[in-house]
Amino acid sequence: MSVQKTIRKVTTHVLQEMKERGEKISMLTAYDFSMARMIDHAGIDVILVGDSASNVMAGHETTLPITLDQMIYHAGSVVRGTDRALVVVDLPFGSYQGNSKEALNSAIRIMKESGAHAVKMEGGEEVLEGVKRILTAGVPVMGHLGLTPQSIYKFGTYNVRATEDQEAEKLIRDAKLLEDAGCFALVLEKIPSALAAKVAGSLHIPVIGIGAGGGVDGQVLVVHDMLGINNEFSPRFLRRYLNLYEDIKKAVGHYIIDVKSGDFPNQQEQY
Ligand code: KIV
Repeated sequence: MSVQKTIRKVTTHVLQEMKERGEKISMLTAYDFSMARMIDHAGIDVILVGDSASNVMAGHETTLPITLDQMIYHAGSVVRGTDRALVVVDLPFGSYQGNSKEALNSAIRIMKESGAHAVKMEGGEEVLEGVKRILTAGVPVMGHLGLTPQSIYKFGTYNVRATEDQEAEKLIRDAKLLEDAGCFALVLEKIPSALAAKVAGSLHIPVIGIGAGGGVDGQVLVVHDMLGINNEFSPRFLRRYLNLYEDIKKAVGHYIIDVKSGDFPNQQEQY
């Protein structure tokens, strides 16, 4: 008799339970089938199909150029590679800020065409109407406050956000508004750790940080950064677990030598 292994899928409810019992949530980005498969098999809790695909997959300087169609393509590939993790997809710049109907239509396209489980949106009060309309359609929404890269031309830099009282107070207000609206989780990016810990301590929903210290309920990193595929980005908050840029370059160098010398393929590597 074969024993079928049943996988307990990560849902928004599972994340809530994790927060309640103090278990930290692990989250990484992925943009394609193969990477999603590897990190899902490793046991990651949440996979974010981030609009950082615009940078690390397409080579753009900012996240602004990526389109809804391109996000749906990446998201579908990730969903096909995922058995256990919750798959969250960024609503890209320009697909939700116009009005709440546009936001709902964009979220519905992501859910229908990719099979993802939730969407993420940057901003607080400014996007609240859209957040609420998406939630009423039964689509789970993750908020994102602090450094919100879709607003880079407003901020002017990628420096730490909310270091001044006024911005910190707005962030605390926005976090509460997003929780009250029904968001299932919140990402806080690049803000002082004391502020992030205060927000995580005052909200019931899980708060996941990137460059926001250890006092939150989980951590997220861009997978290309933590694996060292992208070696040109070294902010203080990044822990690099591999140096794949060098490893891949070395392996490709060996392959080139083997091809040019006629060493590859050998007798065992042909028919
Ligand atoms: O797009 C992305 O990768 C993100 C993370 C940095 C949170 O939004």
